[in-house]
Amino acid sequence: MMQAPEDLLHRLRRYRQEHILIGWDRLQPRERDHLVQQLAGIDFAELEQLFARRNEPHTLLPTREQITPLPVEAASQISAETVARGDAALRAGEVAVLLVAGGQGSRLGFDRPKGVFPVGPISTASLFRVHAEKVRALSLRYGRAIPFLVMTSAATHADTEAYFADHHFFGLAPGQVTFFQQGTMPALDRETGRVLLEKPGSVFVSPNGHGGTLTALADCGLLTELKSRGVRHIFYLQVDNPLVQIAEPAYIGRHIETYAEVSSKVVFKECPDEKVGVLAMIAGRCGIIEYSDMPPEMAAERDGTGTLVFRAGNPAIHLFTVEFLERITAGADRLAYHVARKKVPYFDPATDQTVLPTLENALKFELFVFDALPLADRTLAISVDREEEFAPVKNAVGVDSPETCRQLQINRAARWLQAAGADVPMTTEGHSVYPLEISPLFAYDVAELRAKLPPGFRVTGPTLLE
Ligand code: UTP
Repeated sequence: MMQAPEDLLHRLRRYRQEHILIGWDRLQPRERDHLVQQLAGIDFAELEQLFARRNEPHTLLPTREQITPLPVEAASQISAETVARGDAALRAGEVAVLLVAGGQGSRLGFDRPKGVFPVGPISTASLFRVHAEKVRALSLRYGRAIPFLVMTSAATHADTEAYFADHHFFGLAPGQVTFFQQGTMPALDRETGRVLLEKPGSVFVSPNGHGGTLTALADCGLLTELKSRGVRHIFYLQVDNPLVQIAEPAYIGRHIETYAEVSSKVVFKECPDEKVGVLAMIAGRCGIIEYSDMPPEMAAERDGTGTLVFRAGNPAIHLFTVEFLERITAGADRLAYHVARKKVPYFDPATDQTVLPTLENALKFELFVFDALPLADRTLAISVDREEEFAPVKNAVGVDSPETCRQLQINRAARWLQAAGADVPMTTEGHSVYPLEISPLFAYDVAELRAKLPPGFRVTGPTLLE
């Protein structure tokens, strides 16, 4: 019978994880190599600590007195001079775009990377295509191949790379797109702290959360490389929202002139029970209160004009300076894991069976990108119109589903066309009678649409401008 390497056994015994090696003698050499490699990448001391602290809150919940509303500037108030500053930074190659696409999209129930999901109301363009074409539109406008960084995970990497290659990188320049992978984390048995196996000889792992973007960016050397190429600001967006206006000069310009380390777009909440995290000042720093942590009476607080006091909803659109990311990924400031209790099917080596739990049996660990916000000494928040910039695809049906996303895209196209002087037939409910779609390559914003649209343009049927 073939014994597992002694040093490995010793290491696992030290952390009471030796169950991982049960059945080692039945593994093929290839499977053994895989397991040894997987175990080399796992920090068991960190897992032990995370398990020991599993019942502690991630951060001490602030008291009501420590929380004040976040000062928010309106995008519409930004001056032409500020916009010119942003234009100059884009033209000088100081901005890169970072698309976060490592999630598993479990709520949508789509078995490929979410970025491949078709969202174009007429073109059926995928989320990846929509984002890539925005980067291309910006690159054409500024005469510069804006670096486009696509973060994937073990679950989405190969498919994502192949998809971009099959589509000739959506016309982006060679070398303009860089793929990099976020890290993974094992899941632990909730009662014993033992690492769960996915099958014999393989530890169950999942992507380490969108906060893993920041550490992965630094750990793979990309941050240093971008810096050496003159990149100073990184625009962060998540793959599931096709309406994000990427790296507009107004936002970049304001971020630069306020010396912000992190700038965030916010969309105002309209009713107290909306399920969106809220940005606020917490003990003097910008931070987030997740909707599950927000006491209902606080969510419902209104000021003298009847406006919600805590209304700065977080659509997860940020702009980071490279220096700030270097600082927070370098050492003690690194983000801390959140723990979630989840149902995870697993292989039990003691009984040689796969178990399908009926209750939450596992602890999963994730980093959240918004935990970076309180680490910044200077932050900026800019409010944008929710209808203009926020249409996430999260669920298969209902709220934030492909259907709501499609309607929001059509509504925005109708507004842009009307603002550009077109005649758009509308229903009594205020929707366009016909499906509409404007490719970012046709017009990136209303001003560009106005400049391109023939005078007296009328919508008389489904309209795709590309
Ligand atoms: P969500 O938290 O909505 O997760 O991610 P998701 O994977 O898309 O969907 P569910 O929760 O499984 O249904 C928001 C954004 O963060 C990315 C996602 O790809 C999406 O762009 N993300 C999330 C990662 O890149 N890595 C992760 O580990 C988690």
